[in-house]
This record gives sequence, structure tokens and C-alpha cells, in this order.
Amino acid sequence: MGRSHVRTRRDADPGGYGFDLEGLEAPCDPRRLFDRTPSEAPVEVEIGSGKGSFLVAESELRPDTLFVGVERARRYWLYAADRLRRRGRPNARIVRGDAREVLEAMPEGSVAGLHMYFPDPWPKRRHAHRRLLIQPEFLTACERVLAAGAPFRVVTDDPGYFDQIEAALAARPKLVRSRYEPPASANEGELAGSNFERKYRLEGRRIQAAAVVRSADEDDALANEQA
Ligand SMILES: C[S@@+](CC[C@H](N)C(=O)[O-])C[C@H]1O[C@@H](n2cnc3c(N)ncnc32)[C@H](O)[C@@H]1O
Repeated sequence: MGRSHVRTRRDADPGGYGFDLEGLEAPCDPRRLFDRTPSEAPVEVEIGSGKGSFLVAESELRPDTLFVGVERARRYWLYAADRLRRRGRPNARIVRGDAREVLEAMPEGSVAGLHMYFPDPWPKRRHAHRRLLIQPEFLTACERVLAAGAPFRVVTDDPGYFDQIEAALAARPKLVRSRYEPPASANEGELAGSNFERKYRLEGRRIQAAAVVRSADEDDALANEQA
């Protein structure tokens, strides 16, 4: 995460709440991560869950939705999985792995919403080997996994990254601009209500949000016919 530190409990235990992508069978149907799942329950995915605050808060307010966090850093993944386990959240899980790889492992059209709050604005010199996550290959993975009409929401404090995200989204005909709606767990005046938003608001940073929805493939076919 870079700009924050986490102190994971010595007895932290992901037991049944945290999974590693490497240990999951492909294709990875996100419903299989849950114990008893009504087959029609929608699945929403949060990318870069950090300490898991969004998963903890949102899964309590929306018990009929299944939430799957994705977190690359082991120590944050363990911290978040342990929080979910201690709270006994039946409808939230977290997968350790790279977000693009996790999305690529999920079945097409299996996700009813994607949340991405404060993606790391790399590259910094120390992390120059890592690339910004919101790139064409990543957006292709998002488009594939989202169901028709499902939203993808992004929030950031980084003005340069925000411009780049806007341009990257505008270049995708399958992702149609929509009004940004904060999640249920955001407080009045917040866009995401995540740890990073609360920290950055105290610092007076400007926070920006973008939202798109996945078009139906028939819409693309129609647009192509009319072009
Ligand atoms: C700045 S933190 C934001 C945490 C949380 N969303 C919030 O708003 O408080 C970004 C998180 O994304 C994770 N991350 C960065 N790149 C990732 C990737 N490729 N796949 C999965 N997680 C990633 C980082 O490890 C970090 O925990």
C-alpha cells in the first residue's frame, strides 16, 4: 500500500474467509468461496481491499449481496480476512492475488459490480517495476467479467491518475459512462467511505470519482451496425 502501515495480529487467521488465487481451481466461480449461497445472489468485487473496511461495512448493510475482495499484498489480505472471520461475515470473502489475474479466472458475466477505491498511483521510483493497474488489458478483464448493466466505480485522490482513468474508460465502447453512486456504507459527503478516503479528506485532498456500466453485447452489435 505504501502510504499506510498495517499491524496484523499475531494470531491472525484467514480460516474460511481468505483464499489464495493459486490454491483455487480455474475457472474460479466466486460463489464457491461461500458456504451456503442462494444461486441468484449477486456477486460484487472490490479491487485492492487494503485493510478490508469496505468489505466489512458494505457486507453488513447489504446481506443479500456476496462481496469478494481482491488484495495483492499478503499482509493486508491476512488483516482483512481475519477481520471478516472475527466478525463472522457470511457474505464477504477476500482472495489474495493480482486483480487482473483474479478477474481473468472468474467466469464471464459473473460479477454484478466492481469497486475500486484509491488504486495505487504507481509508478513511484521504489515501485517502478509495477505498472498502474488501470490499463487496456485490465479493462478487457473488467469488461469480460461484468454482467450487462453492471457498474464499475473508481475513486482516487490522484489528479493525474484520474485523468488517465477517464481517458482509458472513454476509449472503451463497452463501458458506458454513468452517474457515480457512492456505496451504501459511505457517510454523507463521502464518495467511497474507505480508509484512504477518510485519511485523505482530513488532509484536505480533492477526491474524484468515475463510473461506467457494462453495455449489453447486443448494444455493441447495434452500434457497430450503425457505424
Ligand atoms: C491505496 S490502497 C487502498 C485501500 C482501500 N481500497 C482504501 O481505499 O482504503 C490500494 C490497495 O490496492 C492493492 N493493490 C495494488 N495493486 C494491486 C493489484 N494489482 N491487485 C490487487 N491488489 C492490488 C494494494 O496492495 C493496496 O492494499
